[in-house]
Amino acid sequence: MTSPLDLRQAFGHFGTGVAIIGFHDRENRPVGLTINSFASVSLEPALLSWCLANESQLYADVAAVSRFSVNILAADQIELSNRMAGSGSHIFEADEIESINGGAPALKGALAQFDCHIHDKVEAGDHLMLIGGIDGVRHCSDQRAPLIYFRGAYTALAEGA
Ligand SMILES: Cc1cc2nc3c(=O)[nH]c(=O)nc-3n(C[C@H](O)[C@H](O)[C@H](O)COP(=O)(O)O)c2cc1C
Repeated sequence: MTSPLDLRQAFGHFGTGVAIIGFHDRENRPVGLTINSFASVSLEPALLSWCLANESQLYADVAAVSRFSVNILAADQIELSNRMAGSGSHIFEADEIESINGGAPALKGALAQFDCHIHDKVEAGDHLMLIGGIDGVRHCSDQRAPLIYFRGAYTALAEGA
């Protein structure tokens, strides 16, 4: 039998980007959650997915949302990534966000933003998989490096990559 620790370590060898999910909680406050389980799913229709741990303090809020944003982080956004991964407050400062077409809060300065409605939710073991239908997308054309997560730590793209 593979232990959860072995699995976590093996999964960690898949280097990923880092994103913050933005949404309004049940008190209509703009909140964010750091994730690396983002995946592109489909181009037509436009779909993406991410997974939320069942034990997250934000589970009931996420389960109730109709819209969320996915914000892909740049390398200079580690501090925000850590804040939105903490077990304390996940509430955004007003000047950190904008709303896309009056929808979910989106992070200023992200490399790319996806504005989504809930397409489907799948209970999958100790996580909830959220499949988002993409209603809008924005991406920046500057050359800022992405934030990368690999083997349980932040890292950077290899020089020359
Ligand atoms: C780089 C990184 C990636 C993460 N990816 C996920 C993820 O995909 N899904 C998830 O539920 N939590 C993920 N987390 C953990 C959450 O950000 C958060 O720390 C955790 O849910 C505990 O806080 P909460 O109980 O307030 O949600 C990640 C954390 C970090 C630092």
